[in-house]
Amino acid sequence: MARLLIADDEANLRRILSSILKEDGHTVAEAPGVAAAKALLAANPYDLLITDQRMPDGDGLALLAAARDADPSLPVVFLTAHATVELAVEAMRKGAFDFIPKPFQPEAVLAVVRRACAHGDLLRENERLKGEVQRLGAYGDLVGSSRALDQVRHLIARVAPTGATVLITGETGTGKELVARAIHERSIRSGGPFVPANCAAFSESLLESELFGHERGAFTGAEKARQGLFEAAHRGTLFLDEAGEMSLSLQAKLLRVLVDGEVVRVGSTSARKVDVRILVATHRDLQKRVGEGLFREDLYYRLAVVPIAIPPLRERADDIPALVDHFLRLASSDLKVPARPIAREAVEKLKGYAFPGNIRELRNLVERACILASGATIGPEDFLLAPPNAPAPVQESDPLGAWASALPAAVDLKGQVDDLERRLIVRALRLASGRQAEAARLMRISRSDLAYKIKKHGIVPGEE
Ligand SMILES: Nc1ncnc2c1ncn2[C@@H]1O[C@H](COP(=O)(O)OP(=O)(O)OP(=O)(O)O)[C@@H](O)[C@H]1O
Ligand SMILES: [Mg+2]
Repeated sequence: MARLLIADDEANLRRILSSILKEDGHTVAEAPGVAAAKALLAANPYDLLITDQRMPDGDGLALLAAARDADPSLPVVFLTAHATVELAVEAMRKGAFDFIPKPFQPEAVLAVVRRACAHGDLLRENERLKGEVQRLGAYGDLVGSSRALDQVRHLIARVAPTGATVLITGETGTGKELVARAIHERSIRSGGPFVPANCAAFSESLLESELFGHERGAFTGAEKARQGLFEAAHRGTLFLDEAGEMSLSLQAKLLRVLVDGEVVRVGSTSARKVDVRILVATHRDLQKRVGEGLFREDLYYRLAVVPIAIPPLRERADDIPALVDHFLRLASSDLKVPARPIAREAVEKLKGYAFPGNIRELRNLVERACILASGATIGPEDFLLAPPNAPAPVQESDPLGAWASALPAAVDLKGQVDDLERRLIVRALRLASGRQAEAARLMRISRSDLAYKIKKHGIVPGEE
């Protein structure tokens, strides 16, 4: 039961209230005024403070403020005479939980106390969860324990300290930006800025001045000189998101930064040195774009020094329970909705879904369910899944059939077959613990054939 503190200058009232509450099983401390109550608050933990509005040595509002300082999650209930209901309303506005009008009925007091204590428990749980989220790091760590994600983690750990350029690929919502931040945070540049730049969000000329900056008067509207994101990321990391969308002329400028470590502002003739690590993400098949002449091959090889491919969520359904748990906690602390357990059948339902929007979609689904679910538990009925045109979930029995039927009707045959080949090779290498002879045997191709394909697909040791 709860630990309560009553502050009121009328000894009689304290005695009656105290006996009602003790009878209900609570421990009760009494204070005849504000100063005495403050002293008790400073020395002992309480679950609830019940305070009078006016006491000879101060008023309840001052006590409310002191209580908030001592413990922000301590609920405070005011005792009010009929004449001072306005004051009580004022107190509620300042954060009091409720008020009890005098004279009171024992049942009414007990009901308010129970509600206030339950509310306090919730706030404390919330604080605890927030602390936990912070402990997990500002951006959180990658949640999930599938083999595929372990591989990604392993690559992050290997590549982060090296300063190498990394090409992060994956469908939308798979966590490309999260991986980029994780690399930055584990690198020696973690004290420097992490600057994301979305190459798909601007027109070509805007993107150029966004990335490289411009001199005053470089174009109409350029009233002041401005540094670009490369300069802003000096001594840190620049994350070029959707880099596959860059025009060929911008690609040439980017190459210059990579080769010489120099940027030239739009409208300037002189170069500035920058010390920036570049991480790149794309949901496109860059190699294919190289083949189509849309992406410079020399740039591709500089960017793809270490490729990290994040598999879609439907290929790592093992991560779903941990992710659901993670997003439930985030929802309860961010959205201020009560923490609610989720039924196992609901998690199973999610595991069978194809998630075209990957982890971002899962996060949205969980948040929506938290807000809209009406029961004490979040159940399968709280997730409306599989709109009619969504790709079919992968069938264990016919993985290739499921893969094929999930593709759009206008299929890029060569790209898809390449992608499949790459995945099969990565898998074989993994199964063979990286031994190429063994992997070649598994796939019934020659070693030299395998070596050629590994090179062609840019597969790096450790990726398997
Ligand atoms: N393994 C993970 N653990 C926890 N949260 C994750 C994980 N992967 C992704 N997320 C979360 O999912 C959301 C989408 O991730 P992110 O923005 O990194 O994806 P993206 O691949 O960059 O997507 P897009 O291609 O649409 O830009 C974010 O809220 C991110 O925090
Ligand atoms: Mg992104």
